[in-house]
Amino acid sequence: MWVADNWKDYEVLDCSSGEKLERWGKYRLLRPDPQVIWSTPKNPSLWEKLNAHYHRSSKGGGEWEFFDLPEQWTIGYRELKFNLKPFSFKHTGLFPEQAVNWDWMRSRLRLALDKEPDRNFKVLNLFAYTGGATVACAAEGYFGDPHNSHINVTHVDASKGMVGWAKENAAISGLENAPIRYLVDDCQKFIEREIRRGNKYDAIIMDPPSYGRGPKGEIWKLEESLYPFVELCVQVLSDKPVFFLINSYTTGLQPAVLSYILNTLVAKKYGGEVEANEIGLPVTSTGLTLPCGASGRWYS
Ligand SMILES: C[S@@+](CC[C@H](N)C(=O)[O-])C[C@H]1O[C@@H](n2cnc3c(N)ncnc32)[C@H](O)[C@@H]1O
Repeated sequence: MWVADNWKDYEVLDCSSGEKLERWGKYRLLRPDPQVIWSTPKNPSLWEKLNAHYHRSSKGGGEWEFFDLPEQWTIGYRELKFNLKPFSFKHTGLFPEQAVNWDWMRSRLRLALDKEPDRNFKVLNLFAYTGGATVACAAEGYFGDPHNSHINVTHVDASKGMVGWAKENAAISGLENAPIRYLVDDCQKFIEREIRRGNKYDAIIMDPPSYGRGPKGEIWKLEESLYPFVELCVQVLSDKPVFFLINSYTTGLQPAVLSYILNTLVAKKYGGEVEANEIGLPVTSTGLTLPCGASGRWYS
């Protein structure tokens, strides 16, 4: 499993009975997690001091109960900073397990930059949410050479609010002047337009939801939409792409499925390597790993 084990400001303290207990900076949150089907004993000294608790509702959804939590606070990962705000559907604005993918993307971009220092690399982040992958990729180019970054990131998300939040994360990470283009758009429509315009990208990242809607109500259903969507995305890859990363947090979409898609659509055309694995977070109290979905990675 690929484990995001380089966090200092975040940890999963424990997990039991359908919930995970997490530390986000100095605040402790308790949130539902459908993977946690075990009922291991709960150490009261850990589980009793909470800053917020997201309660599931039997009707679907749920709500936050706040004890002592600011409306917004910031945590860091390496030199990146992220604003956190608890909001609907138990979200905080960050998927900490993605840090293992951020590190991998940065290392692929670093290798590519070292090999071809004068080349400009265009990265496309789809379903980009609050911009974790956007700031990670932009940082690799911008912090190396702020006056002449060779990494340009295009960030696409259907939600205006999420795009605004991604801009905030870039700004607090010192990346407000980095070459990042933000677009509020439906990912499918955007790719169709980019194909017509002949625009190309050297790296593609996508973390699609199981179910989603574009700004005009366009419906996205992962199992039905993913393969044809990746097929479209391959048409905007440059002649010498660097990587293609697909993440899925949906249980049921196994790593081998992502590997199959990347092999048949990307590796067949460009060669290179495909690897896929579950991703996870270390659990401090047990030393075990909490599974958080799967990622598939193609690289040249
Ligand atoms: C990052 S994905 C989901 C990943 C995350 N692991 C989760 O559990 O939600 C969610 C993002 O996709 C965006 N989104 C959903 N459907 C979309 C669409 N058709 N086009 C563009 N963005 C979309 C949402 O606005 C949201 O920011």
